[in-house]
Amino acid sequence: MAIRNLRLEGDSILYKKSREVENIDEKTRELIDDMIETMHKYNGVGLAAVQVGILKRIVVIDLYDDKGPIVLINPRILKTKGEQEVEEGCLSFPNKFAKIVRPAEVVVEYLDRNGKKVKLKAKELLAQVVSHELDHLEGELFIDKIIPGTLEYNTEN
Ligand code: NI
Repeated sequence: MAIRNLRLEGDSILYKKSREVENIDEKTRELIDDMIETMHKYNGVGLAAVQVGILKRIVVIDLYDDKGPIVLINPRILKTKGEQEVEEGCLSFPNKFAKIVRPAEVVVEYLDRNGKKVKLKAKELLAQVVSHELDHLEGELFIDKIIPGTLEYNTEN
């Protein structure tokens, strides 16, 4: 396992669309392990492969609860419901936070790291993170969707 370099604001790769994973092989699993380690190092709740420079449809999420990290390969949103106005940041935009409107509920289908199809119904924070991370796979960034006038810079750390 290794920490990978984060792609940051201004890097054009962040605007590119990621490709489907065709084989969940040894290299894919190594990437997933590295993504989890990298997310944990920076205390993130989610990370998409594009953020470490790999244009593959892979997302890792960890809300630091008893579920542990979730790995979503080739995720697809089946349904969204409602809205929530939330505070949001992104590991590619360190120290930038803003308010944004996300779906209140998201039903997402994906393959787990063993290639098993999973259907997950996410609410609240998990729905927000799933929506944010799946946007990354389309090359869409939270900073382009924020509620105007809510951007804050946190320079404490
Ligand atoms: Ni992000």
